[in-house]
Amino acid sequence: MSIRFLKVGFRYARGLPWETEALKNINLEVRKNEILGIIGPTGSGKTTLLQLMNGIRHPSEGKVLIDDQDPAVLKGREITRLRQKVGLVFQSPEDQLFANSVYEDIAFGPKNLGVAGSELDNRVRWAMEVLDLGFEDLSRRRPQNLSGGQKRRVAIAGVLAIKPEYLVLDEPTAGLDPEGRKGLLKLIRKLREDLGMGVVMVSHRLQDIMSTCDRVVVLEKGEIRKTGTPREIMRSGQELIELGLHLPPINMVLHELKDVFPYLDTAALGPEEAAGEIDRAIRGL
Ligand SMILES: Nc1ncnc2c1ncn2[C@@H]1O[C@H](COP(=O)(O)OP(=O)(O)OP(=O)(O)O)[C@@H](O)[C@H]1O
Ligand SMILES: [Mg+2]
Repeated sequence: MSIRFLKVGFRYARGLPWETEALKNINLEVRKNEILGIIGPTGSGKTTLLQLMNGIRHPSEGKVLIDDQDPAVLKGREITRLRQKVGLVFQSPEDQLFANSVYEDIAFGPKNLGVAGSELDNRVRWAMEVLDLGFEDLSRRRPQNLSGGQKRRVAIAGVLAIKPEYLVLDEPTAGLDPEGRKGLLKLIRKLREDLGMGVVMVSHRLQDIMSTCDRVVVLEKGEIRKTGTPREIMRSGQELIELGLHLPPINMVLHELKDVFPYLDTAALGPEEAAGEIDRAIRGL
């Protein structure tokens, strides 16, 4: 089971003078049960790539197959069922919240799919529980009056209530404080472990991607520049800097120290590994 991109290209405003080629020759497979990270400078095509994953946009060239089915050729109920497999959470959660209560907001997706009665109620309660949103405290509140972190969780709960098999998140940690960010990253890992979901996340915070993902794709000007494990990607730190990406602070420190200790490995994942590496370098090992 996977989402596959076969030689995919995407152009906005096709045929118009301001036509933009947002994606070029993308070959990529997102497997179920993996957490895939997508990084790249602003305008490199990350959001466009995510929108092609659940069929809200169709490729201009090539094919996107969701579990071997092509959303571009399906119609009616079949397309609804297929799109239900891939839950997309937008870049800013405010875009997705509109109902008068948190309950109604989360219930909206499953209701549209025909879920009703106690099953609907169970879905909402379940999604709120998974996202650590207290039912008694929050279900009747207006989503517009919640904090940024709570809004983000309600938006994700609304998508989770559809019971997708893949969860696609555009900048899920943007605007959250360190606690909120940590909680959300832990939740992403939990969704994969407990529910076997495939997760795709875009973030410009490389430390969030490196600490959470199994595999990382680097996009540049609409093309895949590199794919690898977080460690493999961090090995090309210099390239990431040249692309204009900000390395995690601890890797920036290692890069600075490399002038003094040329054999230093700058690809450490997290402060503990980095401390070990610096210790080794200082002791001349
Ligand atoms: N609705 C649109 N109409 C026309 N061009 C668009 C549209 N949305 C995006 N683009 C263009 O497509 C390219 C890719 O945009 P996209 O939003 O996918 O980038 P991104 O990597 O998500 O950027 P960011 O990090 O800023 O969110 C950019 O050149 C952008 O200007
Ligand atoms: Mg974007």
